[in-house]
Amino acid sequence: MGNRAKILVIDDELAPRESIRIVLKDHYNVFTASGAREGLDAMDTNPVDIVVMDIKMPEMDGITALKEIKKRHPDTEVILLTAYASIETARDAIRFGAFDYLTKPFDKDDVLLVVEKGLKKKHTSAGLKLERDTLLDRTSYLEDQVKSARDNIMTCYEGTVKALILTIDAKDRYTFKHSNRVAKLSSSLAGAMGVSGKTIKEIEHAASIHDIGKIGIEETILRKNGQLTFNEYEEVKKHPTIGVRIVQSVPFLEDAIPVILHHHERYDGKGYPGGVKGDQISLSARIVIVADAVDAMMSVRPYRNALSKDEVLSELRGNAGTQFDPDIVDILLKDTVTL
Ligand SMILES: [Fe+2]
Repeated sequence: MGNRAKILVIDDELAPRESIRIVLKDHYNVFTASGAREGLDAMDTNPVDIVVMDIKMPEMDGITALKEIKKRHPDTEVILLTAYASIETARDAIRFGAFDYLTKPFDKDDVLLVVEKGLKKKHTSAGLKLERDTLLDRTSYLEDQVKSARDNIMTCYEGTVKALILTIDAKDRYTFKHSNRVAKLSSSLAGAMGVSGKTIKEIEHAASIHDIGKIGIEETILRKNGQLTFNEYEEVKKHPTIGVRIVQSVPFLEDAIPVILHHHERYDGKGYPGGVKGDQISLSARIVIVADAVDAMMSVRPYRNALSKDEVLSELRGNAGTQFDPDIVDILLKDTVTL
């Protein structure tokens, strides 16, 4: 009999209490209480599926008891018993969470039908609750999976960028140090331009590997003391496209491609390799173009001394709008980002 639903009948009058118990006892485990308090106490130790309860009771009325039951046992369905005179009260009780009501004197089949419906509703609600809980569990599991996948991608991303930076270092120490400085200046410029934190990081990473294509250029050319011949220079000019070939097989590095490809373009379209100009060059690449040039000018090269800060600013001013994006040059001229 353990699987039978549990019904608690609460009524201060013995006759209706007993007649309901008799109607239900062949189908359910029926308990009785002669008052709301007694019933509530019993439910604390022995929760039931359905409460069938009189509205008019001396000690605690059925509506007050209904609210208490719904508070303590929200899943228990409550069916109210009412005399015809209190039928409005019973209807009102539905909005406090009562499932239905039965009018005295009640019909045996009505009692069975309403209790059966109450149980069905309880099981449906329990089923929906279980479904909702399962969905919530599943959602939180998926959120965890997405977070851990994102963390993995970030670790791969950082690791790949680091590996590429170290590859540059192994090939050419100057390019490595230069790339680090360009990355720092690019990130400061991007910050001064109001770019979002995530994009600043992307620009910084892209800037740190902007010359990655130099891996594919002969060391004798890269380390040559003195001016390059025409052919040597043509060879060096291939490094942006070589760089793109290196990183394009790594999907999460695709944001770096415009920077790698366009960091020798000019604002007026006279750069290489594509001769693109103005807004055709992405903002991140326009930032790196300025940072790259600034660092090159401020570095000692085998064939010339480093330029002073004033000389660099004067070069920038003179080439704003031709070689460089004038808005980015402005940031340096106004000392928003100091060199
Ligand atoms: Fe370069």
